Amino acid sequence: MRSLVLALLACAAAAPSAAGVVFSPEEKRAILAHGPWPAPWQTDASNRASGTAAGIDYGHRLFFDPRLSASGRLACASCHVPALAWSDRRRVGVGNAPLDRNTPSVLNVRHERWLGRDGASDSLWSHALKPLTDEREMGSSVGALAGFLRSDADLRCRHVRAFGALPDDDLLLAVEIAKALAAFQESLVSSRTSFDRFRDALARGDATGLARYPEAAKRGLRIFVGRGNCAVCHFGPTFSNGEFADIGVPFFLRPGQVDSGRHSGIARVQKDRFNRAGSFSDARDPKDAVAIRHLVQEHRHWGEFKVPGLREVAHTGPYMHAGSHATLHDVVRHYSELDVERLHADGERILRPLFLTPRASLDLVAFLETLSAPQPPRPIRPRPMACS
Ligand code: HEC
Ligand code: HEC
Repeated sequence: MRSLVLALLACAAAAPSAAGVVFSPEEKRAILAHGPWPAPWQTDASNRASGTAAGIDYGHRLFFDPRLSASGRLACASCHVPALAWSDRRRVGVGNAPLDRNTPSVLNVRHERWLGRDGASDSLWSHALKPLTDEREMGSSVGALAGFLRSDADLRCRHVRAFGALPDDDLLLAVEIAKALAAFQESLVSSRTSFDRFRDALARGDATGLARYPEAAKRGLRIFVGRGNCAVCHFGPTFSNGEFADIGVPFFLRPGQVDSGRHSGIARVQKDRFNRAGSFSDARDPKDAVAIRHLVQEHRHWGEFKVPGLREVAHTGPYMHAGSHATLHDVVRHYSELDVERLHADGERILRPLFLTPRASLDLVAFLETLSAPQPPRPIRPRPMACS
């Protein structure tokens, strides 16, 4: 009874005239599809360290270790900074040299089927080999990585604990380093947010819980699942359908050079010797490589980028593949004033300029902010855990 009175009071406070936003059955279905959180997940069959305590512990050390880079100064965590929601707050990533793309958060990457903004990798571990060996990123090599690993007693011990043995072959050793890094990253999951509490209250029909969610966020959520069409692409518990799309973000890099996004990503993942169809995968079932075998590069992939998940989005700006949009207000303005000329010929039929009123724009931002915890997740530091 007391909670009912409180709920009525809360409603009255938020919306003096009407009872506030009430969602239709159709809207309710669309909202419920964005949870529950955390979402169920399966270990990666292509990586035998996936989901193992020893693999996660070993990967944890490696992720923070700058000795994996040629300069000895860059770790994965230099760009995927735990205190910055595992991103870097820069427009584009900066390693040994500036990169062309914005650094995505590695929170929730265990749910991604394609890695990289162009999906140039089909597993977390095959992706990890790219920053390790890319000259502009950590600039190392298979030989240097293997040499370093063999020279460090503590890491050697952790390697054996995670994989059973230290392979003689340098390439295999580098692949296993990447697999441990993947196992660690799979353990990074964003916290529950006020949106999740609202979503679960909706599932339970809990009026008190519903009333706690701000009215502005409810109005923004209605645009998100309704006329904004946002949830067509930003779908499901992570707020991404895992696919690629062109939303009219310019993809010129410098005069005469473009980032063709998914178009070149498909070519890269198909010829990647570390993809799921290759011999480095630990998967026994050939079905594990179905996605890569069925990929076909088409013209429409030109200028498409991966649909980013939106959890913790308040802490991961600047936004878009090259950090072109500084704030969430800028992103909402992009969708509101969308330049359809920028969407290429056979581009998205889903997108139309929304011409949002200033209040509706603020509502949409208010909703997006409820997908983040008030503070970025707390930094993780490797706990001293002996290995001998
Ligand atoms: C110099 C900065 C930098 C360093 C160092 C770095 N990254 Fe990244 N990371 C990036 C950028 C930029 C991207 C986007 C790349 C792209 O789209 O091709 C990225 C993308 C990723 C992704 C893909 C995420 C997604 O949602 O698709 C993962 C996973 C990742 N990095 C893990 C790592 C690991 C593991 C290491 C260490 C071995 C590492 N990164 C080192 C900047 C960096
Ligand atoms: C056709 C699919 C599609 C639709 C519809 C769509 N988005 Fe996006 N969204 C994307 C893609 C793709 C990107 C990344 C573009 C890039 O990297 O250049 C993106 C980026 C974003 C980002 C930036 C995230 C980041 O980490 O950089 C936000 C926020 C966002 N969208 C919110 C929305 C909202 C709000 C709507 C509805 C008004 C919406 N999106 C509709 C595909 C879509």
